[in-house]
Amino acid sequence: MRIRTFDEYKTAYQKSVEDPEAFWAEVAQNFQWRKPWTKTLQWNFTEPNVKWFIGGKLNITENCLDRHLAERGDQPAIIWEPNDPNEAGVTLTYRMLHDQVCRFANVLKRNGVVKGDRVCIYMPMVPELAISVLACARIGAIHSVVFGGFSAQSIADRINDAQCKVVITADGAYRGNKEIPLKSTVDDALIGCPSVEKVIVLTRTRTPVSMLKGRDVWWEQELKQVTADCPAEEMDAEDMLFILYTSGSTGKPKGVVHTCGGYMVYAAYTFQNVFQYEGAGDTAAQVFFCTADIGWITGHSYIVYGPLASGATSLIFEGVPTYPDCGRFWDITDKHKVNILYTAPTAIRSLMGFGLEKVENHDLSSLKVLGSVGEPINEEAWHWYDDNIGKNRCPIVDTWWQTETGGILISPLAGITKTKPTFATLPLPGIQPILVDENGKEIEGNGVSGNLCMKFPWPGILRTTYGDHERCRQTYFATYPGLYFTGDGCLRDEDGYYRITGRVDDVLNVSGHRIGTAEVENAINMHTGVVESAVVGYPHDIKGQGIYAYVITDQMPADHDADLTKRDILATVSRVIGPIAKPDKIQFVTGLPKTRSGKIMRRILRKIAEGDTGNLGDTSTLLDPAVVDEIRAGAI
Ligand code: WT7
Repeated sequence: MRIRTFDEYKTAYQKSVEDPEAFWAEVAQNFQWRKPWTKTLQWNFTEPNVKWFIGGKLNITENCLDRHLAERGDQPAIIWEPNDPNEAGVTLTYRMLHDQVCRFANVLKRNGVVKGDRVCIYMPMVPELAISVLACARIGAIHSVVFGGFSAQSIADRINDAQCKVVITADGAYRGNKEIPLKSTVDDALIGCPSVEKVIVLTRTRTPVSMLKGRDVWWEQELKQVTADCPAEEMDAEDMLFILYTSGSTGKPKGVVHTCGGYMVYAAYTFQNVFQYEGAGDTAAQVFFCTADIGWITGHSYIVYGPLASGATSLIFEGVPTYPDCGRFWDITDKHKVNILYTAPTAIRSLMGFGLEKVENHDLSSLKVLGSVGEPINEEAWHWYDDNIGKNRCPIVDTWWQTETGGILISPLAGITKTKPTFATLPLPGIQPILVDENGKEIEGNGVSGNLCMKFPWPGILRTTYGDHERCRQTYFATYPGLYFTGDGCLRDEDGYYRITGRVDDVLNVSGHRIGTAEVENAINMHTGVVESAVVGYPHDIKGQGIYAYVITDQMPADHDADLTKRDILATVSRVIGPIAKPDKIQFVTGLPKTRSGKIMRRILRKIAEGDTGNLGDTSTLLDPAVVDEIRAGAI
């Protein structure tokens, strides 16, 4: 399972392409199966229909917890660092985590949750979030974690789409110097969610909360009613493990579905190989610190499932990188002797801006490997990370992947693959990338760019979008028949190295978060007086991309307090989606550049937002070319 040299990588890669079934069957032997699979893979990308380890039975929590008890029961599984550095943290050994997961799984059962039920989790970054996730998996319930920054409306949409029966939340969350009222947001959401029967509330902030009789129960009270004995439910390899909502270019977010067997194998395989995690056998377990939130796929795969299925020690951090000051990551690294740090370019860029003072007063010598994820990393940030954090002695792994891929697809193997700033480098074993032009024709050779697709499945690929398989087909498998389309543009250089250049669809990547332009437009359009809007991305020094909104209102310019209206629109977007979707810039316009068929020419709006107004290309097909001059003149 473990690759140690570049030659071994090449051998593994070759084998994975020549005989993928044999390759993945061998990898999957490293896990604990209740019953072996009878066929390793069955697939087509037309329906699509992908199944791995067919007939295999397992429970992912037996792989993440039970099987480690004999050899590493007393090893830390989770180290929790609270938001406030003066609050005591928590370390849970594998034995303690196993005990707590079993107990909470029994709480879920007590509250009527059975195999196949969907459970929504809206929690702060506390150990109980990981415990909730694993407790669902233990009894075969399907978790749907919703990031703690989403609005009540977004929670409600997700709960209704999946018809969740239970919600797990907390009274509140601490984030930096803010206190966020999670339970009251859930209460607002549940006004429109008839499927929800029970809400389990963890005490975190002691924020006063309303507790509805018959519906709401306290986590701590419930725990008193159960034992620690909870045998794991036997799951089919292709039973759903979780749903995670993600934005696309159209409509509401889609529920990406991952299943038990393939996802487990892929998350653990990539975790161990990309980061070259050491800790099995004689060596002490390394401390792995992924700074993502468990509400995103990065947290699912590389805080919870990948590390725990590998018997690793995973650090969970509740707070933000700039609280109490901009040295917090380095403080945590020093304090817990972090060996592997996995973070996002946006965090690196924001910390760069504060200078080196808060870096230099910490001992970072425990670090061995640095990771980057979520968006393209620019050269300046790459070098800053390399020079000042890794002190030029830690390989940087720029890992490219997506919610839909379950785990990393293109990345260096730490210390094994020669890196090149801004390049995700080479596909992992089992991954067969292909670049195509707009017509789906393969672009062969090196020194080329095109749209990034995959021509063969890997165990972690999404299986469907919840409740709407046709949408899954349309979104990922219909653009280029026979291929999985990533939505990303990509360059393959002379060495065959891959560099992801960004989305080619109407999806923005703001601080590593995926946001659909259509989603933001729909939210803006809900604001009273807004007639129409168009949203595009523009380069932003820290966020990677910022959100630029062009808005038409029904008010005459003279009657219109522009600043006030802007603030109100931001409040509406916050309310509908969440603060992460708030536009950075709003420009009021009287028209939008449209073709005669009524399609907004976003190309033009993007150029204006980028400040590149010199050459807007051909505008002669526009219905009203004059509108472009007005927009250009008013650009912010
Ligand atoms: C999109 C997926 C799974 C990681 C967290 C984001 C962009 C992700 C990189 C990278 C350049 C990257 C892509 C991708 N992206 N990693 N290393 N270099 N771009 O997951 O929310 O599903 O977003 O993030 O555009 O399609 P996500």
